[in-house]
Amino acid sequence: MDGDAIRALKIEDFSLLDPEVQSNPRPFYALLHEQCPVYRMPETGMYVVTRYDDVRAVLRDTERFSNDLVAAAGMNSGAGNIYQDTLKARGWGHVQTLQRTDPPVHGRYRRLLDRVFNIDQVKNLTPHIETLAHELIDRFIDRGECEFVSEFALPLPGIVIAEQLGLNRDDIATFKKWADSILAPAMIPMNEEELLACAEIELEMQHFLARMFEDRRANPRRDLVSDLVNARAEGEEPLSVHELQNLMHQLISGGYDTTIAAISNGLWLLLRYPDQMAKLRADPSLIKGFMEESLRYESPVQGLVRRTTCDVEVAGTVIPANSVVIVRYGAANHDPGKFACPHQFDIERNNAGAHMAFGIGTHFCVGRLLARQEIITGFEVLLSRITDIELARPLPRPPHHPSLLLHPMKELPIRFKKLA
Ligand code: HEM
Repeated sequence: MDGDAIRALKIEDFSLLDPEVQSNPRPFYALLHEQCPVYRMPETGMYVVTRYDDVRAVLRDTERFSNDLVAAAGMNSGAGNIYQDTLKARGWGHVQTLQRTDPPVHGRYRRLLDRVFNIDQVKNLTPHIETLAHELIDRFIDRGECEFVSEFALPLPGIVIAEQLGLNRDDIATFKKWADSILAPAMIPMNEEELLACAEIELEMQHFLARMFEDRRANPRRDLVSDLVNARAEGEEPLSVHELQNLMHQLISGGYDTTIAAISNGLWLLLRYPDQMAKLRADPSLIKGFMEESLRYESPVQGLVRRTTCDVEVAGTVIPANSVVIVRYGAANHDPGKFACPHQFDIERNNAGAHMAFGIGTHFCVGRLLARQEIITGFEVLLSRITDIELARPLPRPPHHPSLLLHPMKELPIRFKKLA
């Protein structure tokens, strides 16, 4: 979008709560970059930071931009208490770990997780991811069509995490129910009855996991749960069941919908830009560039939140103490100051890997190596087995589920020809 086109738009005409804007935020981001790099959402009072350098500075400044949101006004609502009280009475109330902590407390959790989510672990899992991708394609290839989100993008990362949690493949529906339910209260406003229904599902998950923790303490296997229950940093106590419950919650909520969104948006991008699909088919070594560019272009996490611990000035705007700030990775990834022609999808872009789709600094995504491998292997297998992929019918409008922070596609029905 050129300067004149941007200047013809008005900030008041957009809302980040509008599902159309959430689905295609690019025109709004362009306007904010040019006219209002720190935007106060009139509907919520939250401050949205949009430029690449500002987002990076906020993410690195954990003293003034805290991940502990409990102290922020409105974050501890009555409805939230009902949910917590239900968990506390019959399970494990949430404690603050990892994503909801600041240094130095954050380091206790992060050191243990970094040990578990390392490159060797991902290398060991890669042949399994490949087998899984083939199996999923086997299920629909002879039909010549499929609903890509539910038949490929969802089960691929879903089965990988579910197996790591000790579920077997037939329990994927149970895992999906848990993952959907623990994410829902943060995604959509809910009444008391709906919240209690979600709390019941989380209780079911907590009791399953507690039995798993006990079992893996006694009989460790080669899986994530075994590594975490038995991990202990030097001079520190092992993780308590409360802490383990919370970490599992974060791994499921952080690792599932994000990767589904990355895989589905990735294919949709290739369908929208057939020249890029042709390039990738002609030169499969471009797969890494495709993966990074699609994470940049349709970032699965458009933004996450911080709380200011004091008054802070960002790009000329003073954000008062105790404000909720949305760090907008999605906007930073379209900043023309960092990415030339940011609204062009170009799998040969030389700095696509500088995107902040996984954040940066202290809370840099723990699962990024796994997620990248799932995307790469998933698409390598997919493109080796089907060709002439096209939309089987028009996508719903807008194509994404409404969400202020995430970027999940509703569906992606495709038709294709079988290669192998
Ligand atoms: C394409 C897929 C993914 C995307 C786009 C993504 C994105 C992100 C982002 C933006 C953050 C930074 C949070 C912040 O700044 O506060 C983050 C953190 C995190 N991610 Fe991911 N993620 C993905 C996959 C995964 C996977 C597969 C897992 C694990 C199975 C995972 C687990 C986590 C955890 C636990 C954190 C918190 C880290 C901390 O606070 O130290 N993510 N992720």
